[in-house]
Amino acid sequence: MRPGGAQVDARLIVGDLVPNIKILPLDRVIEAADGSTIMEAAHEHGLYWPTTCGGEGICTSCACTIDEGEANLEPLGRGELKTLAEELGEATVRTRCLRLACQARAHGDVTVTKRGVRPAEASLVTPE
Ligand code: FES
Repeated sequence: MRPGGAQVDARLIVGDLVPNIKILPLDRVIEAADGSTIMEAAHEHGLYWPTTCGGEGICTSCACTIDEGEANLEPLGRGELKTLAEELGEATVRTRCLRLACQARAHGDVTVTKRGVRPAEASLVTPE
């Protein structure tokens, strides 16, 4: 603890920032390599993330709501903004904090909501 009682995140002291991404409603927290996309981090942890374009930034299937930590993501790029506006409408983009998980790169903790994210193995199980 620092003078005055303020606690400092130990990851910041050693200069080894590891963004944590909390995924709802799955309610799972994963560590991401600094600068990796949300979807890349999910795949690294064996999670399936909805996509139809394979992460090309053109389908919006991966779009998620950013509940917390928006400032810890790289700013919305022109391509991402164009895709979101064209596919979901500019009003949707303005009023909801939506990002494409395949394009949004994390440099700090974020909490996102995306239905359909699940352990990848579950997608291989066929119902009897
Ligand atoms: S996976 Fe298609 S836009 Fe992200």
